[in-house]
Amino acid sequence: MELNQRVAVVTGAGSGIGRALALAFGREGMRVALADLDETGMAETAGLVHGQGGEALAVRTDVADRASVQALADRAFAAFGRVHVLCNNAGVATSGGIEAATHQDWQWVLGVNLWGVIHGLEAFLPRMIAQEEPGHIVNTASMAGLIASQGLGVYNTSKYAVVGLSETLAKDLRPYGLGVSVLCPMGVSTRIRDSERSRPPGLRNTTTAKADPVELIGRSLAPEEVAAMVLDAIRADRLYVITHDEGLEPLRRRFQRMEHAILERKR
Ligand SMILES: NC(=O)c1ccc[n+]([C@@H]2O[C@H](COP(=O)([O-])OP(=O)(O)OC[C@H]3O[C@@H](n4cnc5c(N)ncnc54)[C@H](O)[C@@H]3O)[C@@H](O)[C@H]2O)c1
Repeated sequence: MELNQRVAVVTGAGSGIGRALALAFGREGMRVALADLDETGMAETAGLVHGQGGEALAVRTDVADRASVQALADRAFAAFGRVHVLCNNAGVATSGGIEAATHQDWQWVLGVNLWGVIHGLEAFLPRMIAQEEPGHIVNTASMAGLIASQGLGVYNTSKYAVVGLSETLAKDLRPYGLGVSVLCPMGVSTRIRDSERSRPPGLRNTTTAKADPVELIGRSLAPEEVAAMVLDAIRADRLYVITHDEGLEPLRRRFQRMEHAILERKR
């Protein structure tokens, strides 16, 4: 897919991977709509896009709120007329055992990580299909959407759902000429470990018990490296963007365990 002169929308564009995606799209000559809860972060991203000679529109958006994402879509289509690449990227993380997760933890993490993606599809897909131009959806999941880790249960649940959704979406959108990629990184140097900063007051935990952070395996990549892989995947229309070579062994072990489960039953 040719990116120059096209339009991208990026949620979570005020920081980390979303910011790097917005800048990479800008460098390709795309116009970019930035969406985030964090207006300061978004203004910085917009400044950086402008500094590269690009065009960016910043729209304060809460992806967990359907009306807010609908308003983002209205603004983006009003400003640019078309949307070709939609990156449902905003996300938050918590850690701690599922047995200790609060209802607020589930609501917050699923609200942003899963409903944020669903809201993006609801708001943008009908118009992306109707415009009959090449297009691509990028959903940010995680290696935590493919491999379960103790202490990441709530996050794992949200990201496995995003992987499943994306795998089906790729099949569903093929007849319309729209591609789908699901981004599954391991560690990336961003502010994800400080996700609590964006937890809404209504979903704060009343207890102060704090879980130990989960030690992640593998290297930490720079967000710019991850963004470059996403652009390659859009161009090549690749479904899985698995950024870390270190992911290969845990993935193999997971599928071997499934294979054994079938073979042992037949023995
Ligand atoms: N950094 C990693 O190691 C890593 C690994 C795998 C997956 N991911 C995923 O990458 C995505 C981007 O995260 P990041 O690592 O850049 O973290 P980050 O914290 O640097 O950026 C996330 C952005 O999302 C925004 N956000 C949070 N809640 C929002 C909401 N309700 N509505 C709109 N925006 C909201 C934040 O304000 C922030 O700007 C997330 O989906 C995350 O789960 C990150």
